[in-house]
Amino acid sequence: HGLDADARDFAGRRVVVTAGGTREPLDPVRFLGNRSSGKQGVAIAEAAAARGAEVTLIGANLEVASPGGCRVVPVSTALELQQAVTSAAGDADVVVMAAAVADFRPADVSDVKIKKVDGQEHMSIELVRNPDILAGLGAAPHDGTVLVGFAAETESDPSRLLELGRAKRRAKGADLLVVNRVGWNHGFAADENAVSVIGADDTVTAEASGTKMSVAHAILDAIAARIAYGAE
Ligand code: CTP
Ligand code: CA
Repeated sequence: HGLDADARDFAGRRVVVTAGGTREPLDPVRFLGNRSSGKQGVAIAEAAAARGAEVTLIGANLEVASPGGCRVVPVSTALELQQAVTSAAGDADVVVMAAAVADFRPADVSDVKIKKVDGQEHMSIELVRNPDILAGLGAAPHDGTVLVGFAAETESDPSRLLELGRAKRRAKGADLLVVNRVGWNHGFAADENAVSVIGADDTVTAEASGTKMSVAHAILDAIAARIAYGAE
């Protein structure tokens, strides 16, 4: 990014980052999950701390170590993540929703391991909607808090990918939306990433590709610009 390696442009700022992927239990031994490793969100938390921010990292089933210098709140389900982010967001200057949140959870959670029955060839699980945490934050008054959403999309056409991102930013009431393409072979678990950041006027305010750490700094540059804009 364009700043000195030791830039402290986030000094005194409270930054909340959610990272990882939620798990929704079915019974004591099984869950519905997703392939988010948490690497991109953790890189943002680490980079923000390095730039002087007071960081709360809400980690959902992280597959990578949490960085030092952050307050870490471990969560597992979408409802736990919602509770943690709601209580941390109140006095935050920035909330970054990098976590992959399950859209649905099993309607019933069994207290005992679910057993198959002899001859049973099919099984269905009823799911119910989880709250949309980002949309909830976006719909509530949040003056002075920059809300950053992510969109993980499998769309391969670049202009349609951006259109999905623009629609998602508006639907969620986010100030910035980071779009990244995911698929069987890229996005999740990889060490590199490529993103576009969409701003409030629907324009692409930043584009970055490379290590998840360099992408994290580019996203923070876009957030810093947005904070400066909001302060005008
Ligand atoms: N998100 C959230 N709560 C949910 C689902 C998603 O806060 N229940 C947040 C994610 O953390 C991310 C953004 O919303 O910042 C977009 O997530 P994504 O799954 O890409 O979008 P959805 O609105 O769930 O749409 P889709 O049907 O494409 O999954
Ligand atoms: Ca979703």
